[in-house]
Amino acid sequence: MTSVHHDTVLTDDERRAALYRGNIFLFSPRPAALAFADFARALVAEAFGELDPERAQHDLPVEQYVSVLAELKPRFIHHPRSKELLREVLREQGCDLERTYFDVPRLRTSTSDGYLTSGLAYAWHPHRDTWYSAPMTQLNYWMPVYAIEPSNTMTFHPRYFDEAVPNTSSGYNYYEWNTKYRAAASSNVSADTRPLPGPVEEVDISHPLVFVPPVGGLIEFSGQHLHSSVPNQTGRTRMSIDFRTVHIGDIEAGRGAANVDVACTGSSIRDFIRASDLAPMPERIVALFHDGTEDRGDLQYTVAGTPGGRS
Ligand SMILES: [Fe+2]
Repeated sequence: MTSVHHDTVLTDDERRAALYRGNIFLFSPRPAALAFADFARALVAEAFGELDPERAQHDLPVEQYVSVLAELKPRFIHHPRSKELLREVLREQGCDLERTYFDVPRLRTSTSDGYLTSGLAYAWHPHRDTWYSAPMTQLNYWMPVYAIEPSNTMTFHPRYFDEAVPNTSSGYNYYEWNTKYRAAASSNVSADTRPLPGPVEEVDISHPLVFVPPVGGLIEFSGQHLHSSVPNQTGRTRMSIDFRTVHIGDIEAGRGAANVDVACTGSSIRDFIRASDLAPMPERIVALFHDGTEDRGDLQYTVAGTPGGRS
């Protein structure tokens, strides 16, 4: 059973434990999260100039639209202000900033009506982040940047939280993937030609769990939840922020979601930085994730773009 908590007051330890059991938490907009959404909207508005960012896809040739995103997304991801605002969101959540680590926040765009088909294909694809070498302790946050509606958001398939889904994650190694992705990016190969883990049998997505938070409202969930996106037919481009956290005390204690079907190798653990001062993940923690595949390629994910399968 998946319980959904709305503005439930728990300690951070209690909330993480509930998240690892598959509970989902919704938070009404609060100042830090709203400031983060405002910052994202300001960068988006600057990038699109005179155009309405939610409707710009109707005014621009797709190549030009892609070039706007190609500048906008890395700017948001790597902007020092993004990390500061993310830290404030975690402080607002009651997280211990010395023990909580985050990876860089992503700005996602889901265009309407198949305008950018390469992104849509993977956006719809049901997946667990843990199929992509995310730690079993990973917690995800998701927040809309502009108003959304039920036909244009992310969805959950909660029955699969603790039910195995036959999948191709055994063929995925994080370090190999990083190495190949960089090569693909430099040769302008479409990102979506990369084989990404997915189900090999039909998944019942007929009764998805859908939340429609307001701008600045947060959804927090385990990276083990099977989730996907609704194909956008609203005429407006959806924009959202997402980011991930891990708590090193939980890693050391072996706490996290139960693994029911994850068979990938390697780990994204090095991508996480300490919330308090952006220090790298301690090597003693990284060492806990060694599985003998560390020599297969680049150990760290480079955020040149946004891999579609991870949100
Ligand atoms: Fe994801």
